[in-house]
Amino acid sequence: MVVRVLVGAQWGDEGKGKITDMLSKEADVVVRYQGGNNAGHTIVVDGEVFKLHIVPSGILYEHVECVISNGVVISPGVLIKEIEALEAKGYSVKNLKISNNAHVIFPFHEQLDRSEESERTDDSKIGTTFRGIGPCYTDKISRRGVRMVELKDKESLRASVLHHDWTTLLGIAQEEVDAVIDQYLEYGRILKPYMVDVVDLLHKRVQEGKTILLEGAQGTLLDVDFGTYPYVTSSNPTAGGACTGSGLGPTQIEEVLGVAKAYITRVGEGPFPTELCDKFGEDLRTKGQEFGTTTGRPRRCGWLDGVLLKYAVLVNGMTHLAITKLDILSGLSEVKMAVAYEIDGKRSDKWPDNIRDLSKVKPIYESFPGWEENIEDITDFYKLPKTAQLYIKAIEKFVGVPVSLVSVGNSRERTIYRHG
Ligand code: GDP
Ligand code: IMO
Ligand code: MG
Repeated sequence: MVVRVLVGAQWGDEGKGKITDMLSKEADVVVRYQGGNNAGHTIVVDGEVFKLHIVPSGILYEHVECVISNGVVISPGVLIKEIEALEAKGYSVKNLKISNNAHVIFPFHEQLDRSEESERTDDSKIGTTFRGIGPCYTDKISRRGVRMVELKDKESLRASVLHHDWTTLLGIAQEEVDAVIDQYLEYGRILKPYMVDVVDLLHKRVQEGKTILLEGAQGTLLDVDFGTYPYVTSSNPTAGGACTGSGLGPTQIEEVLGVAKAYITRVGEGPFPTELCDKFGEDLRTKGQEFGTTTGRPRRCGWLDGVLLKYAVLVNGMTHLAITKLDILSGLSEVKMAVAYEIDGKRSDKWPDNIRDLSKVKPIYESFPGWEENIEDITDFYKLPKTAQLYIKAIEKFVGVPVSLVSVGNSRERTIYRHG
């Protein structure tokens, strides 16, 4: 038995979906613990591509119980479509469980997300996914949110929705609000069979000695507390969020696996010290097919940032790392990792406490020899070109945790397991 958290170590899109799917083979339960359908997790099986936004990435294994826990914000219409799409492809969702206490995203949240973003000046835009994530979490923290359980009860739902003055706030007609209530009651009828007491369920599974994988969405630097605030999402993707988002306690978590690309990307606005704004960055985007899974936006690309990764190790209590997309770096004469920052002419080895300093950072790089070979079909670490092995070992030495998994392609078989 093991209870393990899988967390994005960068700005999201690190390959969490692929790694969660890989680890699901040996897992009994996979739990999505925060975020919503701002996430886009890709799994490739036998050439078929699955883009999951809200259903946990363990769903392709029939034996896995897939749980959407209290920390997640759910757009029920999107969830139902995702369930239907999986069923249409012949996958069973009979083991899907949804927390009664997860919060509900309404179309009004999406409208607010758009209007808030359009009111921000150019340099304060966040570049949100417009999925209503921020406004829904705002309602949750302001203690006026609507939970999934309320979709089962007309009076309770009506009272909660009417508690918001959507008509004044967004200029929406009362009839439209009423229509949304009716539609959400229908969603409630469809989703009711999946809704359970997730705290009870997860603690039973712990008692039974089951293997539980808590799947983070987004990434450490998008965390509302530890990320590049305010250019962040509105939840806690970091490992602590796995506890508050699921009802499992910190003492029950044995491992924290961080997932990082062999380089780094960011979609949306905000500081990015190792960004490559040149042709090389563009080539990396093309080669890595770095376009958003949820919004299709081009991702900004850069060299691996060791300073950032070290910080991610700290704030997650990370025990292991998975490095993905190593194959994308093949064919380069050199690869680089930022090992320190220069800020106002001074060298610093640590992630700045004041995020404003990030815009002044000049990264100090260490350069490593590259490799020419195509490495996609290699499954044994020691069969990788020596220079690729050295790069992985350098990352591991620099950040101080073992790299237990290296991914060299988007499909299941293109994975190298190492020690630990
Ligand atoms: P997530 O949000 O962390 O699950 O990541 P995304 O699915 O948004 O983006 C990662 C992209 O990289 C997806 O298209 C994956 O299929 C792909 N991918 C994952 N691991 C690898 C890898 O090792 N090599 C390559 N070439 N692609 C990968
Ligand atoms: P996965 O799980 C990458 C980014 C958005 C924006 C910021 C806030 O696939 O890694 P939001 O809609 O959450 O209010 O947007 O966060 N963002 C992501 N970037 N991967 C994600 O999820 C993201 N989810 C949100 O682009 O910059
Ligand atoms: Mg993604």
